[in-house]
Order: sequence, then structure tokens, then C-alpha cells
Amino acid sequence: MEDLQRLETEIISAIVACDDLGGLEELRVAQVGKKGRVSLLMRELGKMSPEEKKEFGPKLNGLKNRIIDGITAQKTNLEQQELNRRLLSEKIDITLPTPPENMGSIHPITQVMDEVAEIFTEIGFSIAEGPEIEEDFYNFTALNIPAEHPARQMHDTFYFPEDAEGNRKLLRTHTSPVQIRTMISGEPPYRIIAPGRTYRCDSDATHTPMFHQVEALVIDKDIHMGHLKWCIEEFCRKFFDLDDVKIRFRPSYFPFTEPSAEVDIGCAFKDGEILIGEGDDWLEIMGCGMVNPRVLENVNLNPDEYQGFAFGMGLDRIAMLKWGIPDLRDFFAADLRWLKHYGFAALDIPSLSTQSKAGNK
Ligand code: PHE
Repeated sequence: MEDLQRLETEIISAIVACDDLGGLEELRVAQVGKKGRVSLLMRELGKMSPEEKKEFGPKLNGLKNRIIDGITAQKTNLEQQELNRRLLSEKIDITLPTPPENMGSIHPITQVMDEVAEIFTEIGFSIAEGPEIEEDFYNFTALNIPAEHPARQMHDTFYFPEDAEGNRKLLRTHTSPVQIRTMISGEPPYRIIAPGRTYRCDSDATHTPMFHQVEALVIDKDIHMGHLKWCIEEFCRKFFDLDDVKIRFRPSYFPFTEPSAEVDIGCAFKDGEILIGEGDDWLEIMGCGMVNPRVLENVNLNPDEYQGFAFGMGLDRIAMLKWGIPDLRDFFAADLRWLKHYGFAALDIPSLSTQSKAGNK
């Protein structure tokens, strides 16, 4: 067996001398990787007598652990150096006056919220609000999603710890609880939209754990699915500034609407961009339907007298479509360079009247 002491000194000095992360990884593989030098030595233990095993087993284990610790420490060290280099090169002197090109701007999502509000208030909706930390009753039960209902699983809910009475608050998984709050607190007819933040434990190019929805609720004595369809189509035409937006209503299921549908918008994913009004791809932008009579009963409305529709639309999704942004996560990366790349100018006034100026393609 090799002189373990010498081997250790040799490897440790190589680790300490290594000054890049790639090289360090190579070193790790060469020494303690599956076929690394130390791992091969450990294999030889199998051929040894019990006495030799007793002597070399712990020595080799100790050696392996010290090498791994050394590599981990050097890795942290190199990462810290790298971070320091970056911080130094991206340093901003905040005492300098702001050059105009570095000015912040209205976030595209804020801009979208504002435009959505403007479109709907113009056709007679008012704006309602609800808390982001919500009670189970409003987020689920009153919406006809009782405990144990399988739809609860689909929501990937973030729960708070139980309180003394055993109740768990949660981060609202959709803006639909605002429907219930609106109907409980006032008299019909209702015609509201409720934009805001929503949360689900999910993250990829088209999902982020925090996202935005706008809820719409219309309840009156003679509301039917035609009203729902018109509202959505009219909204899409105005928002995307296109006469001919391809829209598809897919039959779906939500416990709080019956019948229910999901709405997709026709688009194309091309060369890292997303284009609306062309192509054969679809992006889902909302769920909708006629309010389930059970929900009306839950808020003491008579379903024989009142009916209506509701929808919940993903604001981040429609922002992606509007500006051709293929990855949702970029919205929340807080990178000024990204804002500039997409042409979100400082002090844009986010209203319909200036929409064409606001980076609209
Ligand atoms: N709340 C549903 C969701 O987040 C969307 C929806 C709202 C569906 C209103 C129908 C009616 O998926």
C-alpha cells in the first residue's frame, strides 16, 4: 500500500493550489470519485487480511474524509473569491447622480395590471381586493372545495403553521376567494375584477411560486355564457391590440363553476421568443365558467334568482405574450439590463392611451 501520509500531503497541496472551480471538480473526480485514486485504494481493502483491514480501513476513511473536507473548503473559498470579483466589477457608486440610462421603470406586471384595470373599468367593472394571507374557508370551502376534495392537492398550497384552534392560514392559491368576500360583504348585482398576487409551490419557465391573477365576477339576474365569452374576447382584442386574436375555449373542471372552461391563446414559440397572433401553439391564460349554484348558496344568494360568470386570468402569462418573453422567471430576477432589453422605459405611464408607446410589439 502506498505511503498514505505522503499521498495525503500531495493531494491536499494540490487542492490548496487549485484556483478554479472546474479544476477542483476534476481533482475531486480523480481522487475520491468512483474510480478515483483513493476509491481504488479502498477497493484493495477487500483483498486484505482482517488485521490489515483493521489498520488500513480507518486510515483510508480518514484520508477520504479529509480530502472531501479540503475540497469543500476550497470550493467555498473559490466561490467567495468569484463573488467578490463580481461585486467589485459590478460596483455602483450610489453617491453619483443617476445617469438617465440607469433609471428604473414601471415593472411590466404593474403595467399589465393597470391596463387590465383600465379595460375592465371602461366596460363597467369596479375593483375589489382581498388579503394574500387567506383563510381556508374563502380559498377553498366556500368555493365548493371541501376538505379532502382532490382539487386541494392540485393547488400546491403554502400553509402557515396551525394556530391554537388547529386552523391553518394559507397564501391564497388564486384570486377566487375575492369572489366570496365580495358576495358576502355587499348586495348583488356584482361586477368586479380583483387583480393581485397569488402563490403556489411550483417553478419552471411558465410557473413561479408567486404569480399574479385577475379575477372577474359578474352576478345578476340574466347573465349567461354569451356574456362571459364576449367579455373575454373583447378584453383580448383590446389588450393585445389585435382584431383577430385566436382564442380557444376548452371544456374543463373547477369546483366553483359549472360549466367550466379553460381559455388558450394562439401563439408561436420561435427562436427564444413567443409570438402572438401566429403559429400553432397555445398558451393557457385563464380558467372560467358559470358560477356554481352551490357557491351562490354558500353566500346566501338564491341560485334561481341570480346567476353569473367568473374567470381567473394569469397576468404574468398575458405579459409574456404581450412582450414575447418566453421565461416567466425573468420577471422576478430584478435585473435592470433585462428591463432595458425589452424596452421598458423609465416613467412609462401605464395606461391604455399610451399603450402603443409602452414597448408594445
Ligand atoms: N381560480 C382558478 C385557478 O386559479 C381560475 C378560475 C377562476 C376558474 C374563476 C373559473 C372561475 O385556476
